[in-house]
Amino acid sequence: AKRYSAFRSKLVIRLRSVLHDESNVFKSKLDNPYSVEFKGVARSPKIPASNLLCRLKHVVPSVTTITGEEPAFKDSPIRQAVPKTKLFEPNERYNTCAIVSNAGALNGSNLGRIIDSHDLVLRFNHAPTIGYEKDVGKKTTIRILNSQVASKKHFKFLKNKMYTGIKILVWDPCSYTSTLEQWKENPDFDVFTPYMKHRRAKPKTNLHLLNPRVLWTLWDFLQTHTSVRIRPNPPSSGFLGIALLLPHCDRVRLFEYVPSVRMTPRCHYFDNEVDTSCTFGVWHPLAAEKLLSLSLNQEDDFTTFQTGYITIPGYSNLKC
Ligand code: C5P
Repeated sequence: AKRYSAFRSKLVIRLRSVLHDESNVFKSKLDNPYSVEFKGVARSPKIPASNLLCRLKHVVPSVTTITGEEPAFKDSPIRQAVPKTKLFEPNERYNTCAIVSNAGALNGSNLGRIIDSHDLVLRFNHAPTIGYEKDVGKKTTIRILNSQVASKKHFKFLKNKMYTGIKILVWDPCSYTSTLEQWKENPDFDVFTPYMKHRRAKPKTNLHLLNPRVLWTLWDFLQTHTSVRIRPNPPSSGFLGIALLLPHCDRVRLFEYVPSVRMTPRCHYFDNEVDTSCTFGVWHPLAAEKLLSLSLNQEDDFTTFQTGYITIPGYSNLKC
C-alpha cells in the first residue's frame, strides 16, 4: 500500500507541475489559437466527488451531436446525411463501460480480458485491436475520432474496417465564441466531406458529428474546477469520452488514462513513438483533466496504479 501511495504522490506532483507550467503559457496570451476568454472564477475543488459530478451533469447533461436541424445546417446536405438513429438514445443504458486510452502503458498490460468484459467499449482514433487483443481486448462499441483522423488519407477512414458497423463520434473544434455557422465555414480540418462520403458508402455505421460548442462547455468546467489557468485548447478525446458515457453507463472505467506504475515515455501502445507529452499534455489541458478524473475515482490505489484503471460512477447513481 505504501508503494502505491508514494506513486500517487509523485504522479500528482508531476501533474500539478505541468499545470503550473501551462498556466504561464496562458498568461503570455501568445498561444491562444481558439481565442479563449474565460470570465468565470478558477478554483480547486474542495467539494465531494459526487457534488463535482452533479455539477458536470448540470452543465453537460448529455453530449450533443449535429442533428441537421440547426439553422447552420438547414440548407446543407449534412442535414439529409445524419443517421435516423441517434448516437445514444436518451434512455440507452449500459451497466459497465470501458474507455481504452491510447497510452503506451497499455502495452504488456494484459488488460484485454477485463476490457472485453464490459458491456460497452469505447476506443479512440485509429487505435488497433488486431494484434493487441491481450492488452486492449477486441470488442469495440464506439470510437471517438478527431477531425485529422477522419480527414487525412493515411488514416483510411473510408476504407478501414475498424470504422464500420459501430457508433462513431467525429469532433473538430470551433473557436471559444464562434457560432455553428462560423465553424461550418472554417473548421480546423474539413470533416464535412469525409462525413458525407462515409455516410454514403457505409449507411449502417452510426456516424455523428459532435456539436463543437460542447468542447468549450467542458473546458469551462475544467477551468472552473482548477485553481490555475489551464491550456486554452479543447479537452482531449479522453475527457470527451467521460462526458459522453456518464449519462448512459452505471460505471465508467478508464484504462491507463490516469497513469499506472506501467507509465512509460511511449506515446501509444501500438507504435514506438516516444513522447511524454502524450500522457501529460502538450496541446490538450490533459494534466487538469487527469487530476480532476483522479478526484472522481472510486477505485483503491492497487486497482488504480497496479491494475491500471479508474472508475467513475454514472449519473444514474447520483442524487443531485
Ligand atoms: O493520442 P490519441 O489522441 O489518439 O489518444 C486518445 C486519447 O487517449 C487522448 O485524447 C488521451 O485522452 C488518452 N491518452 C493518454 N495518454 C497517452 C495517449 C493517449 O491519456 N499516452
